[in-house]
Amino acid sequence: MESTLSPHDALASLIWQIELGATEAIGDAPVNRYELPEKAAKTAVAPKAEPPRAAVAAPALVAGPDPAAAAQAAAAAAMDLEALRAALGAYPHCELKRGARNLVFSDGNPAARVMIIGEAPGRDEDQQGKPFVGRAGQLLDRMLAAIGLMRGAEAPQEAVYITNVLPWRPPQNRDPNAEEIAMMRPFVARHVALVNPAAVVLMGNISCEAGLGQRGITRLRGRWAEAYGKPALPMFHPAYLLRTPAAKREAWADLLALKARLREMGA
Ligand code: URA
Repeated sequence: MESTLSPHDALASLIWQIELGATEAIGDAPVNRYELPEKAAKTAVAPKAEPPRAAVAAPALVAGPDPAAAAQAAAAAAMDLEALRAALGAYPHCELKRGARNLVFSDGNPAARVMIIGEAPGRDEDQQGKPFVGRAGQLLDRMLAAIGLMRGAEAPQEAVYITNVLPWRPPQNRDPNAEEIAMMRPFVARHVALVNPAAVVLMGNISCEAGLGQRGITRLRGRWAEAYGKPALPMFHPAYLLRTPAAKREAWADLLALKARLREMGA
């Protein structure tokens, strides 16, 4: 069928598909899905009749594994960062994994004194398998550079180590739900224990929920707390700063507080 789309509409449609995560051609030839039902009907196997209700096992009686307990056990068994990455990759209970292209584990120097914990990968992070590489990540790099920190730095005092609460991209960049956060929390806690930074930065509400058990970043930001057994500074997420440039003032104050605290700790 000839396309009647204008180049403008075709481009808009492509951008829309990319936004939804359809970023790869998976076949050389196009598939006309409108023709498929007819063919499918010819080859379809008749569905099995439903068994009588009484014969179906009651789901409540089938005890599934507790995802948070399974995460706790898998995370505790990981003795180094490579083992933790492998344990995350093998963890089967988070549905987000199915829709993601890559596991996004971390970036930066594991010897860094500062560990940044973001929320979840977006499209760019999912494609590259690294946290904070999109627009928000570029802003994060500029913010860190302003206080002399860099993810690529070799010296631990100048370096940062970056991860997220969620290692898989949620569909359409939706917020992770409470269950997903709870099942990933043991992995984040183990991640912090293995890196053993002097301080953690909790970027945004999801990170505060995982680390502090509370949201409300406008109230929490800039106040030192404790998360994962470390001094923790909640900060506005760089994606929020891109949408709300006026909040950069507070973010700058928080960066200075981080720098001062690191200096005090001799870190
Ligand atoms: N936002 C996050 O919280 N993490 C990323 O890795 C990218 C964007």
